[in-house]
Amino acid sequence: MTRTHASLIGWGHFAPETVVTNDDLAKMVDTSDEWIRSRSGIEQRHFVTEDQATSDLSIEAGRRALDRAGVDPEDVDLVIVATSSPDYLTPPVSSQVQHGLGCTNAGAFTMMVGCTGFVYGLVTADQFIQTGAYKTVLVVGAEVISKNLDFEDRTTCVLFGDGAGAVVLQATDAPCGVRSFELGSDGSQAEALIAPCPGTRNPVSQYAIDNRTHYLRMDGKAVFRFATRTMTESLERVMGKAGVGVPDVDLFIPHQANARIIEYAAKQLGLPPEKVVMNVADYGNTSAATIPIALSEALDAGRAKAGDTLAMVGFGAGLTWAACLFDLGPLAVSPSDAGEEADRAGGDGAPDSVIDDRGVVDGLIA
Ligand code: UT7
Repeated sequence: MTRTHASLIGWGHFAPETVVTNDDLAKMVDTSDEWIRSRSGIEQRHFVTEDQATSDLSIEAGRRALDRAGVDPEDVDLVIVATSSPDYLTPPVSSQVQHGLGCTNAGAFTMMVGCTGFVYGLVTADQFIQTGAYKTVLVVGAEVISKNLDFEDRTTCVLFGDGAGAVVLQATDAPCGVRSFELGSDGSQAEALIAPCPGTRNPVSQYAIDNRTHYLRMDGKAVFRFATRTMTESLERVMGKAGVGVPDVDLFIPHQANARIIEYAAKQLGLPPEKVVMNVADYGNTSAATIPIALSEALDAGRAKAGDTLAMVGFGAGLTWAACLFDLGPLAVSPSDAGEEADRAGGDGAPDSVIDDRGVVDGLIA
């Protein structure tokens, strides 16, 4: 009996036009380009403008992925949006994305699993396709973290950025898609990465705002320790489950939070640099969007090719982790192959300074 598999047939990413360099941030908080680069590898990040939200970035990335796949939005059966920064707590941002893209025949749900959300979403989409329930699924990872950053907390605000990436999976008989996976969670470390308000534990109140609990807080050292351990171990386990080793994997696409964490994992596993995607310098940590952006860039650049085996691994709030081995089938070829690659990164890519003399970055007051 033939089995149904999920083929990745479309991809796309989008980052808002506004680029904020480390030097820009150094005008707002007590930090320096040297500190940020040496501790994290980040050189710049993209921030939305006041009028942009997560659904806008998701829709742009989703549209690019559908165009690339040559899929009519009405033929999409399911839209999954992974994010921890939805436009609203209610309604789910996935419905805004489904509507904005014209996926009129699709169900939609949001996965709030922090930085690991995209891998959770990809694995879930693959399951829906393997069971035969759905034929075509759009998976988006998108975040607007900049609006939840405390620009009085230099330990956290320098690390994050905004962006979105998306893929289209479609049913096929060809052997491809998720070959093995691991989804993990350790809720005992919930406090290590938390935005306490708003929520049912801390509804919006003057007290909550006065105490800045509506901003993202992170125990960087705790997350660092967790990340270095779980990345290596979960990758080893998914390779073990699939009966493959490092030489059998064509490209590793890790969560882009910190270059030191990626380099540590690469060293532990004996990965050569050409097999590891790293773009944290350009985007910072875009949480659930890092892996789909890195994947989309790798596909655009031909670093990930038809038939390749990819390893993806993420870690983050929860604390959670997720890893999978994903086999690429034949890839979609669209008119954009002819030379629209420059458009794909969003904006013109030039790191223009956007801060003015008063320390204002497009509505964010220093
Ligand atoms: O998606 C998951 C998200 N999170 C992560 O992956 C984060 C994981 N953690 C990390 O990446 C690292 O722990 C950080 C980059 C957050 C911090 O690096 P670190 O080497 O652990 O620095 P540290 O926290 O030990 O801070 C060292 C020093 C401190 O000064 P003292 O106490 O030694 O005088 C900090 O106050 O650096 C100071 N510092 C800064 N200095 C300049 C902290 N933040 C800054 C800053 N600029 N932005």
